[in-house]
Amino acid sequence: MVATREGQQMANANKARLSDSAKAEIDAWLTKYPQEQRRSAVIPALHIAQDENKGWLTTQLMDDVADHLQIPRVSVYEVSTFYSMYDLEKVGTHKVCVCTNLSCMLSDSDAVVARLKEKLKIDFNETTADGKFTLREVECLGACVNAPVMLLDRTYHEKLTPEKVDKILGELE
Ligand code: FES
Repeated sequence: MVATREGQQMANANKARLSDSAKAEIDAWLTKYPQEQRRSAVIPALHIAQDENKGWLTTQLMDDVADHLQIPRVSVYEVSTFYSMYDLEKVGTHKVCVCTNLSCMLSDSDAVVARLKEKLKIDFNETTADGKFTLREVECLGACVNAPVMLLDRTYHEKLTPEKVDKILGELE
């Protein structure tokens, strides 16, 4: 059987292990919490693991996080499957998370979403053919006062309009 390039990449990524530098970063977070509360570091630890693996988490990486924190693996799965900020499948280079919750909807997030889908030629939970963008619909991003809002990688973009979407995406092309 001939493996596709994407399939091979996924297989390679699935073998990724938490690096020593990632463990050191997690250890730095652990110093912020009481010694008996190691599970408090699970959120930053998952961010570190995800960032190291091009934006998504494998089961192996989640297990590595759990083992390093010395907590049950299920305690890590509970967090990684609850929050939309963690991805458990391969994603594009850029993650576009657009809010469609109440304040954003009332501020015409529909127009923003329509422009994003039109420009990227994908629907929610899809990745562009070139692997550059993944589009996500998310719940409130906590910036309702400046709705409509999207989170592009780690950067908030607020008071969005379709024209602003064109400009933001244009700067990434
Ligand atoms: S409803 Fe969209 S940021 Fe709060």
